[in-house]
Amino acid sequence: MPVSTITLNDLPPAPLQRGQDLLGAMLDAGLPAMYLCMAGSCGRCRCRVSAGLEALAPRTAAEEFHGCDDDQRLACQARLDDDGDVHVHQPPR
Ligand code: FES
Repeated sequence: MPVSTITLNDLPPAPLQRGQDLLGAMLDAGLPAMYLCMAGSCGRCRCRVSAGLEALAPRTAAEEFHGCDDDQRLACQARLDDDGDVHVHQPPR
C-alpha cells in the first residue's frame, strides 16, 4: 500500500492518509503549520502547493470564498483524495 506524505517548507515529510486534511496531518506530525480556526473561516492556514495538487479533493466553498489562487489551498480544508506526495509552503512563523 503506497504511503502518501505531506511536506511543509523544507521540513522532513510526514504521513498523510487518504481523506485526511493537510492541516490535521501536519499537526499530528508536530509540524509548525500556521492556523487559527481549523474550520475554513480565518484563512490563516493558506498555503502554496508546489507538488501533489492533483491528489487533493476539489476546493471547498470556504476556499472559493477566500479567493485562493490556482496553486493555493486552505490546509484545514484540502483533503487527500488519491495517493500522492504533497508539498506545501507557508511563510515561517
Ligand atoms: S485554520 Fe482557519 S481557515 Fe484554515
